[in-house]
Amino acid sequence: MTTTTQPTAAASGAGATARFKADKSAGAAGASNERVDLLAREVLGAVHNTIRKHKVTYAEYNAVKAWLIKVGEDGEWPLFLDVWIEHVVEDVATEHRKGNKGTIEGPYYVPGSPDSGSSGTIPMRENEAGTPLIWTGRVTSTDGSVLAGARVELWHADDDGLYSQFAPEIPEWNLRGTFTTDAEGRFEIRTVRPAPYQIPTDGACGQLIAAAGWHAWRPAHLHVKVSAPGHELLTAQLYFPNDEHNDDDIASAVKPELILDPQPGPDGASQVVEYGFVLDPESV
Ligand code: DHB
Ligand code: FE
Repeated sequence: MTTTTQPTAAASGAGATARFKADKSAGAAGASNERVDLLAREVLGAVHNTIRKHKVTYAEYNAVKAWLIKVGEDGEWPLFLDVWIEHVVEDVATEHRKGNKGTIEGPYYVPGSPDSGSSGTIPMRENEAGTPLIWTGRVTSTDGSVLAGARVELWHADDDGLYSQFAPEIPEWNLRGTFTTDAEGRFEIRTVRPAPYQIPTDGACGQLIAAAGWHAWRPAHLHVKVSAPGHELLTAQLYFPNDEHNDDDIASAVKPELILDPQPGPDGASQVVEYGFVLDPESV
């Protein structure tokens, strides 16, 4: 462990909100009146049914109202949505795929990470803590053809479970890099194993977790976006065997096919792992 300051819910929430607005909110007006009418009525109807079924009291209604206000004040809507809702959107969005289906993006992706070649080391601090990991893989299309020049964007938490640009005192692009496959579709990435990640507990999401008696942990994970011309973008996470939270991830984002099988490396200190990706061609 290094000694870095833990991010507060308000600070990481504000960062995640700003990131979302910069990247995605421009495309957010894309639903017809009919869809909004249908979906809003069904969601509200489900809430009304829950209130009737469980005879929700005014005290409980006011507690929820206060909590929803606090989610906004803490800037935790991105966190709340990505932890408790996104996994179902992702399932629906990728159910047609014949290649890798992937999993949630989460709130901490930043586009434009440094170019790290087809075989290279992700940006990291001198003496970055954590077990070194050498990850090799290949990117192919569903028809088996090799995808040369595919991009593998990798971002992950450090050995303290913290993300650069969302926790203080970490260099800007630490543990964020963009790799490109070679003529055989291969890449080789040198990084370190991330630690399990705890969602911020001092804000509204932490309050919900404590009030419900849940835990705040996600298993250790590597985030990737894999892209190639003419193919659907794959957003995924990779996990490590025997992590105690693989079976009860707070974000429900673990799938068995996303668990890596790292082996001890030749030098005894590092681990090696082989894992590749199969992309679906874009439908025309
Ligand atoms: C959250 C953080 C993550 O790193 C992730 O992968 C998913 C969700 C969160 O804090 O909401
Ligand atoms: Fe994450």
